[in-house]
Amino acid sequence: MNIRATFPTNAQATEVMQPSESALYHPPRLAQPPAVRAARSEAWGLGPTSQRLIEDGSRAARRGIIPRPERGLNLPGGERVSAIGWTSERAHVLVAEIEKAIVGKRQSVELVVIGLLCNGHVLIEDIPGVGKTTLAKALAAALGAKYRRVQFTPDLLPADITGTSIFNQQTAQFAFREGPVFTNVLLADEINRATPKTQSSLLECMEEFQVTVEGVARKMEQPFFVIATENPIEYRGTYPLPEAQLDRFLMRIKMGYPSPQEEVTVLDRHAKGHPLAVVQPVVTRDEVLQMQAQVRDVHLDQSLKNYLVELVTATRQHARLSLGASPRASLGLMRMAQARAALDGRDFVLPDDVKALAPAVLCHRLVLKPSVVAGAGPGRMLEASDVVAELLKQIPVPVSR
Ligand SMILES: Nc1ncnc2c1ncn2[C@@H]1O[C@H](COP(=O)(O)OP(=O)(O)OP(=O)(O)O)[C@@H](O)[C@H]1O
Ligand SMILES: [Mg+2]
Repeated sequence: MNIRATFPTNAQATEVMQPSESALYHPPRLAQPPAVRAARSEAWGLGPTSQRLIEDGSRAARRGIIPRPERGLNLPGGERVSAIGWTSERAHVLVAEIEKAIVGKRQSVELVVIGLLCNGHVLIEDIPGVGKTTLAKALAAALGAKYRRVQFTPDLLPADITGTSIFNQQTAQFAFREGPVFTNVLLADEINRATPKTQSSLLECMEEFQVTVEGVARKMEQPFFVIATENPIEYRGTYPLPEAQLDRFLMRIKMGYPSPQEEVTVLDRHAKGHPLAVVQPVVTRDEVLQMQAQVRDVHLDQSLKNYLVELVTATRQHARLSLGASPRASLGLMRMAQARAALDGRDFVLPDDVKALAPAVLCHRLVLKPSVVAGAGPGRMLEASDVVAELLKQIPVPVSR
């Protein structure tokens, strides 16, 4: 199995980059001798150790990790491992488990895992029947954490999301009954079918990780990860998410059709029941919290922070956009770039991490001017992704300090 197949540009960038260039983004205190780097790429690349880690996913397999004293992690059994190597291994185990149910969508699967590692929320938007709900359910099944699903419908009320006080006849008192947001993973399925009032009841929870009901603020559990799905081609009886709500999502992911070969594999896997049934919990709640902490520790060079901010601010001045991306987008892009580096077994971010993730972080936050959409010419409407692609080409990547 090719575990690095999703982002070929990253592999190319790392290979093409001269050692001196790569060192620009690498914190000096973490500089590793070439032998260690080579060994790590063997362990997390396509070598036999990596194959074994992905295939059996067992704790024993972690012995293949190269210990690095400066950023080590003590596992419960007393074993000491490299923190970033451990995070990468756990994330790849999670990806492999989700792929038991989802065929050929490595990039979407990795993006969802990156979202989880950033403690962000993910919106999956695409046409019907391409595996949106299946992907969300597979992630929940692969995590040994609390999971709730809410099917959004027009008659769903805010209290159905957050919870409500009910009268207890025996104690003659009101008691709070927690809504489905008191969980670790919340699948908000077909979120655009509920009314804006109900949709917005999720807002406070998503941003502040707390619920205020009847004037009382209640803390929510950690991690709290919302994975919402919506179908963009159906407008009758739906309530498209307003910009303010879209901004609360760290990223928007598209699925796309599988290739004919992949579709045949989907048919094969369904021959003996639904593939979701074979997905097992492989990563615990505590491990997710630990991975999130490691991601926050990944080094992001100052020049890359400037690059990232330049990219985001350029959307605010762009002639074709009436709304650019918010500082929340910059924060999200930074965190996601750190998570992508961690997934790749690196403790420093490369420019390619930022470039690869920019469309998923920015596109759903941008609003095109109506005249631009109308005047895009025959055949195809101009999309926000075109503007992001143009900016990625225009703005130079920092190569020297
Ligand atoms: N890439 C894929 N890999 C595996 N199964 C897939 C894939 N695409 C679709 N399927 C299968 O197709 C069926 C429909 O998928 P699912 O219900 O997840 O679609 P959806 O995108 O949520 O659709 P809707 O918008 O109608 O809710 C499921 O049985 C799922 O397993
Ligand atoms: Mg669905």
